[in-house]
Amino acid sequence: MCRRMSSARWSIGDAVMAVFGSPVARGDDAERAVRAALAIPRIIEQLNASSPHPDLEIHMAVNTGEAVVTIDPGSPDGDLLVAGDVVNTASRLQGAAPPGRVLIGEETFRATRRVIRSEPVPAVAAKGKREPIPAWVAIEALVPLAVRPAQMPFVGRDGESGLVRDIWSRAVAERRPHLVTILGEAGIGKTRLAEEFSFDVKETGGQAFHVRELPYEQSSGYETFVQLVHEVAGIFESDPNPVAMAKLEASLDHLGLADPALVQLLSVFARTPEAVADDRRSLFEAARRYVEALASTTGTLIVFEDVHWAHPSTLDLITSLAGRARDAPIVFLALARPELLDLRPAWG
Ligand SMILES: Nc1ncnc2c1ncn2[C@@H]1O[C@H](COP(=O)(O)OP(=O)(O)OP(=O)(O)O)[C@@H](O)[C@H]1O
Ligand SMILES: [Mg+2]
Repeated sequence: MCRRMSSARWSIGDAVMAVFGSPVARGDDAERAVRAALAIPRIIEQLNASSPHPDLEIHMAVNTGEAVVTIDPGSPDGDLLVAGDVVNTASRLQGAAPPGRVLIGEETFRATRRVIRSEPVPAVAAKGKREPIPAWVAIEALVPLAVRPAQMPFVGRDGESGLVRDIWSRAVAERRPHLVTILGEAGIGKTRLAEEFSFDVKETGGQAFHVRELPYEQSSGYETFVQLVHEVAGIFESDPNPVAMAKLEASLDHLGLADPALVQLLSVFARTPEAVADDRRSLFEAARRYVEALASTTGTLIVFEDVHWAHPSTLDLITSLAGRARDAPIVFLALARPELLDLRPAWG
């Protein structure tokens, strides 16, 4: 839930509630909440497999709507108090959810239907409600986290697009990596420019990957590389570890990287339990071989979204790859708000 930017979590008896979109709404709060919920069964499965087999069962629901949120200014991590019908309804849905499944309410369904596949289930009759509550069961994400569905036509960015296209042509012609950074205030159109450009890249036979930093990331610091390796290998967050590991091995084999030491190192980026990340130099080296292999047969674009939130180790890794990858037609396109320069004045 932390990784998907929930701002608060607390427990009431054996129930846990998490709030997304407060104190700061990000427009995709419902989606992140459902993705977080879909990732939980795998964790429960791991817990149950561990000794002494706790035999846990989980019932989940996500509901969206208006609530009265009180932030406790005295608490160090800004404790939230949330009240409103949306909370009661979430609790009713949760009570009706089958084991291991995620029920979602109507507004959550509408907000996520283009990115998450859900199936309707019979409305939930609930105490204190005149009408049964319409409900869906969330099944799976339809697109990776960073991909947004199509929107309005793209206008008036010929200069910027032309610049990126020139750099791309050079990277492909010279088989040399390039790091391009687009800096700009929130909402200025960085993501959109990158999406349009990815589309062009794919149209012309190249491949494009989108990965995205998360503001409240509290993990190892390589979130975007985890996303990249997952996307390339077709690993889902809901995959049990042995499945994730098998997919990683198959993907590395396909890339011609079936060296056990390398598999071991790259499993850091697939977040499998064998992961070890104590040797940063070897890890960066493994990442370099990985992107070189990825780009060996075709021009490759990797878009790093929201780099101003990146962990310093990710910034180091991106710079290292851009400086060291050899014989690789690859463009790293970093998108960031200007505060990146507070973090790294010499970036780019
Ligand atoms: N050139 C453009 N033509 C049409 N629509 C655009 C254009 N640029 C941006 N938009 C639209 O404006 C909105 C904000 O743009 P976008 O999400 O790309 O901003 P951003 O710079 O990535 O912001 P953030 O820093 O918050 O990530 C989006 O809905 C996007 O589709
Ligand atoms: Mg953006």
